Amino acid sequence: MPTVVHVTGARPNFPKAAPVIHALEQNPNYQQLLVHTGQHYDKGMSDVFFEQLGLPKPAINLGIGSGSHAEQTARVMVGLETYLTDLEPDLLVVYGDVNSTVAAALVAAKLNIRLAHVEAGLRSFDRGMPEEINRVVVDQLSDILLVTSAEAMHHLAMEGRPIVNTHFVGNPMIDTLLRLLPSSDETVLAIPDHDRYGVLTLHRPSNVDSESGLRELVPHLLNIAERLPLLFPLHPRAADRLRSAGLFSSGRIQALEPLAYLEFVALMRRAALVISDSGGVQEETTILNVPCLTLRENTERPVTITHGTNQLVSLQSLTTAVNGILQGDALPRLAGPPPLWDGQAGQRIGMVIQSYLG
Ligand code: UD1
Repeated sequence: MPTVVHVTGARPNFPKAAPVIHALEQNPNYQQLLVHTGQHYDKGMSDVFFEQLGLPKPAINLGIGSGSHAEQTARVMVGLETYLTDLEPDLLVVYGDVNSTVAAALVAAKLNIRLAHVEAGLRSFDRGMPEEINRVVVDQLSDILLVTSAEAMHHLAMEGRPIVNTHFVGNPMIDTLLRLLPSSDETVLAIPDHDRYGVLTLHRPSNVDSESGLRELVPHLLNIAERLPLLFPLHPRAADRLRSAGLFSSGRIQALEPLAYLEFVALMRRAALVISDSGGVQEETTILNVPCLTLRENTERPVTITHGTNQLVSLQSLTTAVNGILQGDALPRLAGPPPLWDGQAGQRIGMVIQSYLG
């Protein structure tokens, strides 16, 4: 019986893995095992996603926790090497671009275990982002490259990856979104009662790690919040710094606990706009048709701009962009939704894996 091991570790991995696992579950001839690295460990960042997305209980949790990039990567590698050496699976599947992803890919390559990467080929061309380094390394090591948007095929070809192993399958994160949208719509949100609000999520080191950067950022956001109250489900890495930088001083920006999947989708769907530096939020707002202002210099997901509702903004252009949206300057949706973001990506990935493993 072929054994497929999926490795997940951080919050954005979970909605990508669920549709792939569910698709392969339809084939009783496969044994599937899920490894949780424990990169994200708070209940609200992990357990609640397993429940809501219907993910199987992990076969093992490596419990790596927080640490520097080297510490996290090394802990995943040591734990996973022991686990996989005994198990000798036929395929390891990794998701996205977090530290757990690159660590697992390195272990698979060195143990000569075949490796599939879901969300291959995305590039911001910004090596200042740890995720970009993870993406490049994982794609070089992968035997099967599963691609969510067309330009990623080109990036992989330019990096010399064999075209026969590269498959444009669509976006499994959108499978999860479309599947759970009806349940999310029924969710009652315990949030302040505003007629109209924006959602704010910021956690990237480039936005929240430096005090001088925060001193610049906070007045812009407070100013916007005078026109549109902002609700901010806080990522734990940023919470204390944002509080002491005065982000919540006026009461117009309200901190929320990290939200579970259904609640977060409901919050976005009912919002006038979203301001974020997340990768997944750019994709989800594209499908929800909610304007998204991404506070970054670049994006590895340009299809959300050409086919969706996403705009890249700087601190200088943010207020103008918000005003434009609030005045009803609809963002033109040029050609959306992106090709193959249709809820069937997990099935396609399942088919590629089964045909690869014979
Ligand atoms: C990671 C990913 C990032 C992704 C994000 C989604 C990498 C390099 N980064 O960033 O690409 O967008 O996940 O959330 O892998 N913490 C907790 N509880 C938790 C997890 C984290 O309190 O359950 C706090 C800790 O202080 C920790 C910090 O958040 O040090 C950062 O966590 P980490 O997993 O290192 O990176 P993220 O910022 O979450």
